[in-house]
Amino acid sequence: MAEFLSTKPYKGSRDFYPEEMRSREWMFSTMSRVVESFGFERYDAPLIEPLEIYLRKTSEEIVNQQIYSFLDRGERKVAIRPEMTPSVARMVARRFSELVKPLRWYSIPNLWRYEQPSRGRLREHWQLNCDIFGAQDEFLADIEILLLAINLLKAFGANQEHFRLKLSHRQILNQVLYELLSLPPESWLPIGRIIDKKDKITVAEFEDLLQKEGLDREQIKTLFSYLEEKEDFLERHAQWSSAHYLLRILKFLEDMGVRPYIDYDPAIVRGFDYYTGIVFEVYDRHPENRRSLFGGGRYDELTGAFSKEKVNAVGFGMGDVTLEDFLKTHGLWQTFPRKTELFMALFGEEELIVHSQKLAQKLRDHGFCVEMSLNSARLGRQFEEAHRKEIPLVLVIGSEEYKAGLVLVKDLNTGEQRRFSEEELLRYLKERQKNLK
Ligand code: HAM
Repeated sequence: MAEFLSTKPYKGSRDFYPEEMRSREWMFSTMSRVVESFGFERYDAPLIEPLEIYLRKTSEEIVNQQIYSFLDRGERKVAIRPEMTPSVARMVARRFSELVKPLRWYSIPNLWRYEQPSRGRLREHWQLNCDIFGAQDEFLADIEILLLAINLLKAFGANQEHFRLKLSHRQILNQVLYELLSLPPESWLPIGRIIDKKDKITVAEFEDLLQKEGLDREQIKTLFSYLEEKEDFLERHAQWSSAHYLLRILKFLEDMGVRPYIDYDPAIVRGFDYYTGIVFEVYDRHPENRRSLFGGGRYDELTGAFSKEKVNAVGFGMGDVTLEDFLKTHGLWQTFPRKTELFMALFGEEELIVHSQKLAQKLRDHGFCVEMSLNSARLGRQFEEAHRKEIPLVLVIGSEEYKAGLVLVKDLNTGEQRRFSEEELLRYLKERQKNLK
């Protein structure tokens, strides 16, 4: 006997059955609605990019361990996109001079990373990317991105009990490493990467990595005290422009009334090399799901990899997997019934069937979703099919209705049956639709 093929999707990837697709569409349309309300416009880019766009400035972990890359048939090194930021930087750099800045752009791409699948981590995910390019006043762009991040979660019904946005600034860390630890610029990125891993490793492992990077006991102690201290540190170093800047952001957000959503957290670094300013991660506060939901930051140098014009940029990526976990954890996930509201049963002679098909088309032309039966033999079965599919209204044109120019409508929720002329039916359905809204 022939072996059957597996019906499972590829490891770490998902199928979306229709009921799951309805929730996914709700998620994506909520995202679009919120970001478009801030004036963002949608763009897209190819799934496959030249590998090199990820090599210049990216996350070491992604390039060394997670990228899906291969040689195409023309021997070009290409990669399936693990993130959207290099693609959008490429697009902006390509048409920089003709684009009217600032740009507020968003996309919801499917991204691929070769990860060990676990809760919140898969090999593919969808990621809302929101980025602002070329703002005159970078401070206002940073504020807008942070407000957008908070508003997105609020639009899904979340509040300050559910999440926190943890905020820091890359230059503050650099300044700490330079001024307080006397470390040269070459060591800033590697140490940043180690701090980024801090939550995933033990304290001993963390110290060990720092030692390997050349830090002595005293330097490690200073670094620890910086990572543990809260806003007092910023106040004491307000002469540093980065610390001053972050204090200004926090004050602005306080005046906007969203300060309860924000924590200053010096341990937030983010694992990408391209960040140059604010960096943030949004965390779930639920004890069973204390994980990062999404993150982003300012990256002013990335377009410089593609052209001599550097465009300042700030944005974030919000993944569907972590968002779904978060919404489910807090009882905010939604499921939806099918959209189809009418089931056209078929019955009797071919002439009747043609007539029923015509009526179905007329109803579709009026904007109704009509599912046509594919079973013209057994009426009882057809009612059962509509019932199991949770379609509320069944239409039948039997020979009597046909002769009288009528349609029988059965409401499966109430059991009520009525006969209408086509005009009455349209009026009835429109009225019903209005009442359902
Ligand atoms: P990222 O932190 O790598 O940033 O990803 C952003 C979010 O995408 C994560 O917080 C998580 O929600 C989701 N995500 C990432 N990898 C996975 C995975 N393997 N499985 C499930 N979800 C995942 C970036 O990608 C930056 N390019 C974001 C950005 C945009 N920065 C500025 N603009």
